[in-house]
Amino acid sequence: MNSLSSLTGREILDSRGRPTVECRCVLSGGAWALASVPSGASTGSAEARELRDGDPQRYLGLGCRTAAAHLSGEIHQAFAGRSFADQRQFDRDLIELDGTADKSRLGANALLAASLAFARAVALDRGVPLYDHFAGLLGDIPRQLPRLTINLFSGGKHAGGQVPIQDVLIVPSSAASTDVALSQAFAVYQAAARLTLEKYGMRALTADEGGLAPPFPDAESMLSDAVAAIRAAGLQPGTDVALAVDVAATHFYDGRHYHWGSQRLDSGEMVQLLAGWLDRFPVVSIEDGLAENDWSAWPELCRCLAPRALVLGDDLLCTNPARIRRAIESRSATALLLKVNQIGTLSEAADALRLASGAGWRVTVSARSGETEDNWLADLAVGWSADQIKVGSITQSERLAKYNRLLAIESDTHLPLVAWPAAPAENSGFAP
Ligand code: PGA
Ligand code: ZN
Repeated sequence: MNSLSSLTGREILDSRGRPTVECRCVLSGGAWALASVPSGASTGSAEARELRDGDPQRYLGLGCRTAAAHLSGEIHQAFAGRSFADQRQFDRDLIELDGTADKSRLGANALLAASLAFARAVALDRGVPLYDHFAGLLGDIPRQLPRLTINLFSGGKHAGGQVPIQDVLIVPSSAASTDVALSQAFAVYQAAARLTLEKYGMRALTADEGGLAPPFPDAESMLSDAVAAIRAAGLQPGTDVALAVDVAATHFYDGRHYHWGSQRLDSGEMVQLLAGWLDRFPVVSIEDGLAENDWSAWPELCRCLAPRALVLGDDLLCTNPARIRRAIESRSATALLLKVNQIGTLSEAADALRLASGAGWRVTVSARSGETEDNWLADLAVGWSADQIKVGSITQSERLAKYNRLLAIESDTHLPLVAWPAAPAENSGFAP
Protein backbone atom coordinates (compact mmCIF):
# COMPACT_ATOMS: atom_id res chain seq x y z
CA MET A 1 0.00 0.00 0.00
CA ASN A 2 0.99 3.62 -0.48
CA SER A 3 2.52 5.35 2.46
CA LEU A 4 0.73 8.16 4.23
CA SER A 5 1.88 11.61 3.12
CA SER A 6 -0.04 13.89 5.44
CA LEU A 7 -2.82 14.35 7.95
CA THR A 8 -4.38 17.76 8.43
CA GLY A 9 -7.00 18.73 10.97
CA ARG A 10 -9.55 21.50 10.73
CA GLU A 11 -12.25 22.82 13.04
CA ILE A 12 -15.65 22.84 11.29
CA LEU A 13 -19.22 23.27 12.57
CA ASP A 14 -21.81 20.58 13.16
CA SER A 15 -25.60 20.63 12.76
CA ARG A 16 -26.03 22.48 16.07
CA GLY A 17 -23.49 25.09 14.98
CA ARG A 18 -20.98 23.68 17.46
CA PRO A 19 -17.38 22.95 16.49
CA THR A 20 -16.25 19.49 15.48
CA VAL A 21 -13.23 18.04 13.70
CA GLU A 22 -12.52 17.30 10.06
CA CYS A 23 -9.41 15.44 8.90
CA ARG A 24 -7.77 15.33 5.49
CA CYS A 25 -5.63 12.30 4.76
CA VAL A 26 -3.30 12.24 1.76
CA LEU A 27 -1.56 9.06 0.55
CA SER A 28 1.71 9.02 -1.38
CA GLY A 29 -0.02 7.81 -4.55
CA GLY A 30 -2.11 10.98 -4.57
CA ALA A 31 -5.40 9.65 -3.21
CA TRP A 32 -6.80 11.93 -0.56
CA ALA A 33 -9.98 12.11 1.49
CA LEU A 34 -11.81 14.17 4.07
CA ALA A 35 -13.84 12.84 6.98
CA SER A 36 -15.63 14.61 9.80
CA VAL A 37 -16.91 13.38 13.13
CA PRO A 38 -20.27 13.80 14.89
CA SER A 39 -20.92 14.66 18.51
CA GLY A 40 -23.58 13.60 21.02
CA ALA A 41 -25.60 15.53 23.59
CA SER A 42 -27.19 12.69 25.53
CA THR A 43 -23.86 10.99 26.05
CA GLY A 44 -23.01 7.89 28.04
CA SER A 45 -20.44 8.32 30.82
CA ALA A 46 -18.27 5.50 29.41
CA GLU A 47 -17.76 7.21 26.05
CA ALA A 48 -14.30 8.06 24.73
CA ARG A 49 -13.55 11.74 25.43
CA GLU A 50 -13.77 14.45 22.84
CA LEU A 51 -11.10 17.11 23.26
CA ARG A 52 -12.65 20.58 23.60
CA ASP A 53 -10.65 23.78 23.94
CA GLY A 54 -12.42 24.91 27.11
CA ASP A 55 -12.16 28.62 26.29
CA PRO A 56 -15.45 30.06 27.60
CA GLN A 57 -15.05 33.11 25.32
CA ARG A 58 -15.26 30.94 22.22
CA TYR A 59 -18.16 28.56 21.41
CA LEU A 60 -18.88 28.19 25.14
CA GLY A 61 -15.63 26.28 25.54
CA LEU A 62 -16.59 23.75 22.83
CA GLY A 63 -13.91 24.79 20.30
CA CYS A 64 -11.95 22.02 18.60
CA ARG A 65 -8.84 23.93 17.59
CA THR A 66 -6.60 21.89 19.90
CA ALA A 67 -7.92 18.58 18.57
CA ALA A 68 -7.47 19.81 14.99
CA ALA A 69 -3.95 21.02 15.81
CA HIS A 70 -3.07 17.57 17.18
CA LEU A 71 -4.01 16.09 13.80
CA SER A 72 -1.87 18.53 11.82
CA GLY A 73 0.89 18.40 14.45
CA GLU A 74 1.69 15.42 16.64
CA ILE A 75 -0.36 12.81 14.77
CA HIS A 76 0.87 13.97 11.36
CA GLN A 77 4.49 13.92 12.56
CA ALA A 78 4.16 10.42 13.98
CA PHE A 79 2.43 8.99 10.90
CA ALA A 80 3.76 10.83 7.82
CA GLY A 81 5.98 8.74 5.57
CA ARG A 82 4.83 5.47 7.15
CA SER A 83 3.01 2.55 5.55
CA PHE A 84 0.34 0.65 7.44
CA ALA A 85 -0.50 -3.00 6.89
CA ASP A 86 -4.17 -2.31 7.44
CA GLN A 87 -6.73 -0.19 9.30
CA ARG A 88 -6.14 -2.14 12.49
CA GLN A 89 -2.47 -1.22 12.57
CA PHE A 90 -3.28 2.42 11.83
CA ASP A 91 -5.85 2.51 14.65
CA ARG A 92 -3.59 0.64 17.08
CA ASP A 93 -0.84 3.17 16.48
CA LEU A 94 -3.28 6.05 17.00
CA ILE A 95 -4.38 4.55 20.32
CA GLU A 96 -0.78 4.01 21.42
CA LEU A 97 0.22 7.54 20.47
CA ASP A 98 -2.66 8.94 22.54
CA GLY A 99 -1.74 6.69 25.46
CA THR A 100 -4.89 7.18 27.57
CA ALA A 101 -7.71 4.71 28.18
CA ASP A 102 -10.39 7.22 27.13
CA LYS A 103 -8.47 8.94 24.28
CA SER A 104 -8.59 12.20 26.18
CA ARG A 105 -5.02 13.37 25.49
CA LEU A 106 -5.21 13.81 21.73
CA GLY A 107 -9.02 13.65 21.73
CA ALA A 108 -11.37 10.89 20.55
CA ASN A 109 -12.69 13.41 18.02
CA ALA A 110 -9.20 13.82 16.50
CA LEU A 111 -8.51 10.08 16.55
CA LEU A 112 -11.81 9.12 14.90
CA ALA A 113 -11.43 11.80 12.21
CA ALA A 114 -8.01 10.32 11.35
CA SER A 115 -9.29 6.73 11.44
CA LEU A 116 -12.15 7.56 9.04
CA ALA A 117 -10.15 9.78 6.69
CA PHE A 118 -7.49 7.08 6.40
CA ALA A 119 -10.14 4.43 5.59
CA ARG A 120 -11.70 6.64 2.94
CA ALA A 121 -8.33 7.52 1.35
CA VAL A 122 -7.38 3.82 1.19
CA ALA A 123 -10.77 2.95 -0.38
CA LEU A 124 -10.16 5.61 -3.04
CA ASP A 125 -6.65 4.36 -3.58
CA ARG A 126 -8.02 0.82 -4.06
CA GLY A 127 -10.76 2.12 -6.34
CA VAL A 128 -13.56 0.46 -4.36
CA PRO A 129 -16.73 1.96 -2.87
CA LEU A 130 -16.39 2.90 0.77
CA TYR A 131 -19.02 0.32 1.81
CA ASP A 132 -16.98 -2.45 0.19
CA HIS A 133 -13.86 -1.24 1.91
CA PHE A 134 -15.65 -1.14 5.29
CA ALA A 135 -16.90 -4.71 4.69
CA GLY A 136 -13.34 -5.76 3.94
CA LEU A 137 -12.25 -4.54 7.39
CA LEU A 138 -14.43 -7.34 8.78
CA GLY A 139 -13.26 -9.82 6.13
CA ASP A 140 -16.78 -9.75 4.76
CA ILE A 141 -18.86 -8.42 1.88
CA PRO A 142 -22.01 -6.25 2.18
CA ARG A 143 -24.95 -8.64 2.50
CA GLN A 144 -27.96 -6.42 3.18
CA LEU A 145 -29.21 -2.88 3.52
CA PRO A 146 -30.19 -1.70 7.02
CA ARG A 147 -33.83 -1.13 7.92
CA LEU A 148 -34.53 2.51 8.71
CA THR A 149 -35.56 3.73 12.14
CA ILE A 150 -36.58 7.37 11.77
CA ASN A 151 -37.17 9.96 14.49
CA LEU A 152 -40.73 11.26 14.51
CA PHE A 153 -41.20 12.85 17.93
CA SER A 154 -38.56 14.03 20.35
CA GLY A 155 -38.34 14.91 24.01
CA GLY A 156 -35.67 14.63 26.70
CA LYS A 157 -32.27 16.19 26.15
CA HIS A 158 -32.89 16.76 22.44
CA ALA A 159 -36.01 18.87 22.96
CA GLY A 160 -35.73 20.82 26.19
CA GLY A 161 -37.06 17.99 28.38
CA GLN A 162 -40.84 18.52 27.93
CA VAL A 163 -41.20 14.75 28.47
CA PRO A 164 -38.58 12.46 30.01
CA ILE A 165 -38.09 10.09 27.04
CA GLN A 166 -35.90 11.14 24.15
CA ASP A 167 -37.33 9.81 20.90
CA VAL A 168 -40.23 7.97 19.34
CA LEU A 169 -39.09 6.58 16.00
CA ILE A 170 -41.01 5.00 13.16
CA VAL A 171 -39.88 1.72 11.61
CA PRO A 172 -41.24 1.08 8.10
CA SER A 173 -41.17 -2.60 8.98
CA SER A 174 -42.62 -4.14 5.86
CA ALA A 175 -41.21 -1.77 3.20
CA ALA A 176 -39.31 -3.77 0.61
CA SER A 177 -36.75 -1.05 -0.13
CA THR A 178 -35.12 2.05 1.33
CA ASP A 179 -36.88 4.04 -1.35
CA VAL A 180 -40.32 2.87 -0.17
CA ALA A 181 -39.36 3.21 3.50
CA LEU A 182 -38.41 6.87 2.98
CA SER A 183 -41.61 7.70 1.15
CA GLN A 184 -43.64 6.12 3.96
CA ALA A 185 -41.60 8.02 6.55
CA PHE A 186 -42.30 11.26 4.69
CA ALA A 187 -46.05 10.53 4.67
CA VAL A 188 -46.07 9.80 8.41
CA TYR A 189 -43.93 12.85 9.20
CA GLN A 190 -46.26 15.14 7.24
CA ALA A 191 -49.29 13.61 8.97
CA ALA A 192 -47.57 14.08 12.35
CA ALA A 193 -46.81 17.73 11.50
CA ARG A 194 -50.51 18.29 10.69
CA LEU A 195 -51.55 16.54 13.89
CA THR A 196 -49.10 18.66 15.87
CA LEU A 197 -50.59 21.81 14.40
CA GLU A 198 -54.18 20.73 15.11
CA LYS A 199 -53.60 19.29 18.57
CA TYR A 200 -50.84 21.51 19.99
CA GLY A 201 -51.19 24.59 17.80
CA MET A 202 -47.68 24.36 16.43
CA ARG A 203 -45.68 22.55 13.80
CA ALA A 204 -42.36 24.25 13.24
CA LEU A 205 -40.52 23.37 16.45
CA THR A 206 -38.17 20.51 15.79
CA ALA A 207 -35.56 18.95 18.03
CA ASP A 208 -31.83 18.43 17.41
CA GLU A 209 -32.33 15.51 15.04
CA GLY A 210 -35.34 16.99 13.25
CA GLY A 211 -38.04 15.21 15.28
CA LEU A 212 -41.23 17.17 16.01
CA ALA A 213 -41.25 18.41 19.58
CA PRO A 214 -44.62 19.83 20.64
CA PRO A 215 -45.47 20.14 24.35
CA PHE A 216 -46.69 16.55 24.84
CA PRO A 217 -48.40 16.16 28.22
CA ASP A 218 -46.63 12.82 28.75
CA ALA A 219 -44.63 10.09 27.01
CA GLU A 220 -47.67 7.94 26.25
CA SER A 221 -49.10 10.82 24.19
CA MET A 222 -46.00 10.66 21.99
CA LEU A 223 -46.79 7.02 21.30
CA SER A 224 -50.52 7.45 20.73
CA ASP A 225 -49.91 10.50 18.52
CA ALA A 226 -47.38 8.46 16.52
CA VAL A 227 -49.98 5.72 16.00
CA ALA A 228 -52.52 8.36 14.94
CA ALA A 229 -50.03 9.84 12.45
CA ILE A 230 -49.34 6.41 10.91
CA ARG A 231 -53.08 5.87 10.47
CA ALA A 232 -53.58 9.39 9.08
CA ALA A 233 -50.88 8.63 6.50
CA GLY A 234 -53.01 5.72 5.30
CA LEU A 235 -50.68 3.09 6.76
CA GLN A 236 -51.35 0.28 9.19
CA PRO A 237 -49.66 0.71 12.61
CA GLY A 238 -47.69 -2.38 13.54
CA THR A 239 -48.00 -3.93 10.08
CA ASP A 240 -46.72 -1.28 7.69
CA VAL A 241 -45.03 0.95 10.21
CA ALA A 242 -44.02 0.04 13.77
CA LEU A 243 -42.53 2.16 16.55
CA ALA A 244 -39.19 2.23 18.33
CA VAL A 245 -38.48 4.21 21.47
CA ASP A 246 -35.25 5.71 22.79
CA VAL A 247 -36.09 6.10 26.47
CA ALA A 248 -32.56 7.42 27.25
CA ALA A 249 -33.34 6.60 30.89
CA THR A 250 -29.86 7.50 32.13
CA HIS A 251 -30.83 11.12 31.83
CA PHE A 252 -33.74 11.02 34.29
CA TYR A 253 -32.26 8.57 36.82
CA ASP A 254 -30.82 9.91 40.05
CA GLY A 255 -29.08 6.70 41.12
CA ARG A 256 -32.16 5.35 42.95
CA HIS A 257 -35.23 6.52 41.09
CA TYR A 258 -36.47 7.39 37.63
CA HIS A 259 -38.06 10.86 37.58
CA TRP A 260 -41.21 10.20 35.61
CA GLY A 261 -43.25 13.41 35.59
CA SER A 262 -44.35 13.87 39.18
CA GLN A 263 -43.65 10.21 39.99
CA ARG A 264 -40.51 8.52 41.29
CA LEU A 265 -40.26 5.01 39.83
CA ASP A 266 -37.90 2.30 40.99
CA SER A 267 -36.26 0.02 38.41
CA GLY A 268 -38.95 -2.66 38.66
CA GLU A 269 -41.72 -0.10 38.13
CA MET A 270 -39.86 1.28 35.13
CA VAL A 271 -39.64 -2.23 33.63
CA GLN A 272 -43.38 -2.77 34.16
CA LEU A 273 -44.19 0.58 32.59
CA LEU A 274 -42.20 -0.25 29.45
CA ALA A 275 -43.62 -3.79 29.27
CA GLY A 276 -47.09 -2.22 29.36
CA TRP A 277 -46.24 -0.14 26.28
CA LEU A 278 -45.71 -3.33 24.29
CA ASP A 279 -49.33 -4.29 25.01
CA ARG A 280 -50.76 -0.92 24.06
CA PHE A 281 -48.57 0.30 21.22
CA PRO A 282 -46.84 -1.34 18.23
CA VAL A 283 -43.39 -0.92 19.78
CA VAL A 284 -40.73 -3.28 18.42
CA SER A 285 -37.55 -1.82 19.94
CA ILE A 286 -36.74 -0.12 23.25
CA GLU A 287 -33.40 1.64 23.63
CA ASP A 288 -31.87 2.46 27.03
CA GLY A 289 -35.05 1.49 28.89
CA LEU A 290 -32.99 1.73 32.07
CA ALA A 291 -30.02 3.84 33.11
CA GLU A 292 -26.48 3.04 32.01
CA ASN A 293 -25.35 1.92 35.46
CA ASP A 294 -28.55 0.23 36.64
CA TRP A 295 -26.90 -3.07 35.69
CA SER A 296 -28.74 -5.21 38.25
CA ALA A 297 -32.16 -4.40 36.72
CA TRP A 298 -31.28 -4.84 33.02
CA PRO A 299 -31.65 -8.68 33.03
CA GLU A 300 -35.23 -8.27 34.27
CA LEU A 301 -35.92 -5.67 31.58
CA CYS A 302 -34.57 -8.11 29.00
CA ARG A 303 -36.67 -11.00 30.34
CA CYS A 304 -39.83 -8.89 30.16
CA LEU A 305 -39.29 -7.21 26.78
CA ALA A 306 -37.05 -9.46 24.69
CA PRO A 307 -39.63 -11.90 23.45
CA ARG A 308 -41.51 -9.03 21.84
CA ALA A 309 -39.07 -6.17 21.21
CA LEU A 310 -35.37 -5.52 20.76
CA VAL A 311 -33.65 -4.49 23.98
CA LEU A 312 -31.18 -2.00 22.61
CA GLY A 313 -28.23 -0.65 24.59
CA ASP A 314 -26.81 2.79 23.84
CA ASP A 315 -25.52 4.55 26.99
CA LEU A 316 -25.47 1.10 28.62
CA LEU A 317 -22.91 -0.21 26.13
CA CYS A 318 -21.16 2.86 24.68
CA THR A 319 -19.93 0.67 21.77
CA ASN A 320 -17.39 -0.56 24.31
CA PRO A 321 -16.35 -4.23 24.04
CA ALA A 322 -15.90 -4.60 27.82
CA ARG A 323 -19.42 -3.33 28.53
CA ILE A 324 -20.88 -5.40 25.68
CA ARG A 325 -19.22 -8.53 27.11
CA ARG A 326 -20.73 -7.78 30.51
CA ALA A 327 -24.18 -7.30 28.97
CA ILE A 328 -23.92 -10.56 27.00
CA GLU A 329 -22.88 -12.50 30.10
CA SER A 330 -25.63 -11.01 32.26
CA ARG A 331 -28.27 -11.29 29.48
CA SER A 332 -28.98 -7.58 29.73
CA ALA A 333 -29.69 -6.71 26.07
CA THR A 334 -30.40 -8.20 22.67
CA ALA A 335 -29.13 -5.41 20.42
CA LEU A 336 -26.22 -2.98 20.17
CA LEU A 337 -26.52 0.66 19.20
CA LEU A 338 -23.21 1.23 17.46
CA LYS A 339 -21.83 4.78 17.47
CA VAL A 340 -18.24 4.82 16.30
CA ASN A 341 -17.37 8.01 18.16
CA GLN A 342 -18.35 6.43 21.48
CA ILE A 343 -15.25 4.24 21.22
CA GLY A 344 -13.07 6.40 18.95
CA THR A 345 -11.64 4.22 16.15
CA LEU A 346 -13.08 2.06 13.38
CA SER A 347 -11.21 -1.07 14.50
CA GLU A 348 -12.56 -0.94 18.04
CA ALA A 349 -16.07 -0.36 16.72
CA ALA A 350 -15.56 -3.43 14.50
CA ASP A 351 -14.62 -5.43 17.61
CA ALA A 352 -17.81 -4.24 19.30
CA LEU A 353 -19.87 -5.30 16.30
CA ARG A 354 -18.23 -8.75 16.14
CA LEU A 355 -18.92 -9.38 19.81
CA ALA A 356 -22.56 -8.34 19.50
CA SER A 357 -23.26 -10.32 16.32
CA GLY A 358 -21.41 -13.32 17.74
CA ALA A 359 -23.91 -13.33 20.62
CA GLY A 360 -26.81 -13.32 18.16
CA TRP A 361 -27.64 -9.69 18.85
CA ARG A 362 -29.02 -7.26 16.31
CA VAL A 363 -26.99 -4.15 15.48
CA THR A 364 -28.23 -0.61 14.85
CA VAL A 365 -25.62 1.73 13.38
CA SER A 366 -26.41 5.21 14.69
CA ALA A 367 -25.70 8.86 13.98
CA ARG A 368 -25.34 11.42 16.80
CA SER A 369 -27.54 14.38 17.58
CA GLY A 370 -24.75 16.68 16.39
CA GLU A 371 -23.92 15.59 12.83
CA THR A 372 -22.16 16.91 9.76
CA GLU A 373 -22.96 16.60 6.06
CA ASP A 374 -20.48 13.73 5.81
CA ASN A 375 -22.23 10.52 4.75
CA TRP A 376 -19.76 7.78 5.78
CA LEU A 377 -22.33 6.40 8.23
CA ALA A 378 -24.44 5.03 5.36
CA ASP A 379 -21.44 3.20 3.90
CA LEU A 380 -20.58 1.86 7.33
CA ALA A 381 -24.09 0.51 7.95
CA VAL A 382 -24.10 -1.24 4.56
CA GLY A 383 -20.48 -2.41 4.72
CA TRP A 384 -20.99 -3.90 8.16
CA SER A 385 -24.38 -5.39 7.18
CA ALA A 386 -26.11 -3.65 10.08
CA ASP A 387 -29.69 -4.67 10.80
CA GLN A 388 -30.91 -1.13 11.42
CA ILE A 389 -29.70 2.42 10.90
CA LYS A 390 -30.73 5.39 13.03
CA VAL A 391 -29.99 8.71 11.41
CA GLY A 392 -32.61 11.04 12.89
CA SER A 393 -35.65 12.49 11.20
CA ILE A 394 -36.21 12.93 7.47
CA THR A 395 -35.51 16.64 7.59
CA GLN A 396 -32.21 18.55 7.79
CA SER A 397 -29.37 18.02 5.36
CA GLU A 398 -27.00 16.42 7.85
CA ARG A 399 -29.58 13.58 8.11
CA LEU A 400 -30.55 13.56 4.42
CA ALA A 401 -26.91 13.21 3.40
CA LYS A 402 -27.01 9.71 4.90
CA TYR A 403 -30.43 8.76 3.45
CA ASN A 404 -29.41 10.02 0.03
CA ARG A 405 -26.25 7.95 0.20
CA LEU A 406 -28.34 4.88 1.16
CA LEU A 407 -30.55 5.52 -1.88
CA ALA A 408 -27.48 5.68 -4.11
CA ILE A 409 -26.07 2.47 -2.63
CA GLU A 410 -29.46 0.77 -3.03
CA SER A 411 -29.70 1.66 -6.70
CA ASP A 412 -26.06 0.69 -7.33
CA THR A 413 -26.07 -2.63 -5.50
CA HIS A 414 -29.69 -3.89 -5.42
CA LEU A 415 -28.90 -5.43 -2.04
CA PRO A 416 -31.97 -6.64 -0.13
CA LEU A 417 -33.35 -4.65 2.77
CA VAL A 418 -32.98 -6.66 5.95
CA ALA A 419 -36.20 -8.10 7.37
CA TRP A 420 -37.34 -7.09 10.82
CA PRO A 421 -36.61 -9.98 13.26
CA ALA A 422 -40.26 -11.06 13.20
CA ALA A 423 -43.46 -9.56 11.91
CA PRO A 424 -44.02 -6.69 14.37
CA ALA A 425 -47.76 -7.22 14.50
CA GLU A 426 -47.29 -10.82 15.61
CA ASN A 427 -44.55 -9.84 18.01
CA SER A 428 -46.27 -7.07 19.86
CA GLY A 429 -49.39 -7.48 21.97
CA PHE A 430 -50.77 -4.43 20.12
CA ALA A 431 -53.87 -5.13 18.04
CA PRO A 432 -53.75 -2.98 14.87
P1 PGA B 1 -26.82 11.73 21.28
O1 PGA B 1 -28.20 10.98 21.26
O2 PGA B 1 -26.19 11.65 19.96
O3 PGA B 1 -27.20 13.12 21.70
O4 PGA B 1 -25.99 11.05 22.35
C1 PGA B 1 -28.56 9.97 20.39
C2 PGA B 1 -29.08 8.78 21.14
O5 PGA B 1 -29.24 8.80 22.38
O6 PGA B 1 -29.33 7.73 20.53
ZN1 ZN C 1 -29.89 6.65 22.65
